[in-house]
Amino acid sequence: MRIVVTGGAGFIGSNFIRHILSAYPDYHVMNLDKLTYAGNLENLTDIEQSDRYSFLKGDICDSALLDGVEYDAIVHFAAESHVDRSILDASPFLQTNIMGTYNLLEITRKKGCSFVHVSTDEVYGSTDDGYFSEQSPLMPNSPYAASKASSDMLVRSYVETHGIHAAITRCSNNYGPYQFPEKLIPLVMLNALERKPIPVYGDGMNVRDWIYVEDHCSAVDAVLHKGKAGDVYNIGVRNERPNIEIIRIILSTLAEKTSSDRKELFSLISYVKDREGHDRRYAIDPSKIEKDLGWRPEIDFEDGIARTIQWYLESRHWWERIISGDYLKYYDVQYGSRVKQ
Ligand code: NAD
Ligand code: DAU
Repeated sequence: MRIVVTGGAGFIGSNFIRHILSAYPDYHVMNLDKLTYAGNLENLTDIEQSDRYSFLKGDICDSALLDGVEYDAIVHFAAESHVDRSILDASPFLQTNIMGTYNLLEITRKKGCSFVHVSTDEVYGSTDDGYFSEQSPLMPNSPYAASKASSDMLVRSYVETHGIHAAITRCSNNYGPYQFPEKLIPLVMLNALERKPIPVYGDGMNVRDWIYVEDHCSAVDAVLHKGKAGDVYNIGVRNERPNIEIIRIILSTLAEKTSSDRKELFSLISYVKDREGHDRRYAIDPSKIEKDLGWRPEIDFEDGIARTIQWYLESRHWWERIISGDYLKYYDVQYGSRVKQ
């Protein structure tokens, strides 16, 4: 199988490429990425020499992008993904998440390949109790969530109208190696290691449902191979935690692993103004993907968070290059001359 992975230089996309290459020894993956601030080819240095991997720098809004490329499926991760940025400026979110997805749907229609659209539980909005099922109404509250909900609707319309083979996944909050340090979990770790304040929005009691990135990748793999066209699959692991609990777990583990003063680390916690429109609680019901596709997560939270903390402790070089901005030069230095533009 030849798969195009959009957004493969980002957090989940890079983990997914690694997952596919190791799970399927005869598959080829093309990573298609624009390399925005969130795209980092240093997430893939261990596999970039593989003859089953290639990289194409490009924008998913470009209609000629995949001309002349042969492939069987597109797995679509590329997006503007950070809620806080969408509050400051929604424009790139509308362009990439909506128009970019529209362009890929057109390409899918013309090529006749299959399509997996990687969406998010945020399209359902916030819930005080109960769980989001695939039938829950779409009630997005941030411009990011609205742009993802729009793209979900476009995918649905292309299945109904043009009969393309496409499925949608809606996953909860991911954590794990290679997550860009603007997101809560890596931000807490890096700020703690550098003894910087740790900003907690509002009262810290907003609840997220955390899944280890490798479990998300195996779920998308299941949908790619066994998903039904036109179906939506929720992905989650029934692991709801208030933000402040996550922060305390990370700080306690760091204190232990780095022989630091626990009190000093906890004193970095700094309650700040709440995020506008901050969703109170996300909670996914993953029964459908478990029942229909036989998918099961493999990594529980205690194991996953310990692995993640250990990875960040051992990957100082990776995150220091993000903080300094040097990671943005990797493409030109390593790739510029030998990659199809
Ligand atoms: P990320 O921000 O780490 O990576 C996004 C990638 O997309 C980057 O490599 C970036 O360069 C690329 N990209 C952005 N605009 C592009 C464009 N116009 N053309 C080509 N490439 C472009 O994101 P992530 O956290 O890995 O999320 C990946 C996908 O999963 C997104 O669609 C997101 O909505 C979805 N998702 C994320 C989470 C999560 O917790 N992070 C949970 C559920 C769903
Ligand atoms: O639910 C899936 C979504 O999870 C994905 O669709 C998004 O792409 C991804 O960014 C993530 O969105 P969140 O807004 O939930 O993630 P974030 O890491 O930004 O924030 C997690 C929680 O922590 C949220 O309640 C806001 C809070 N927070 C976040 C930051 C960055 C803080 O309290 N302080 C912070 O500095």
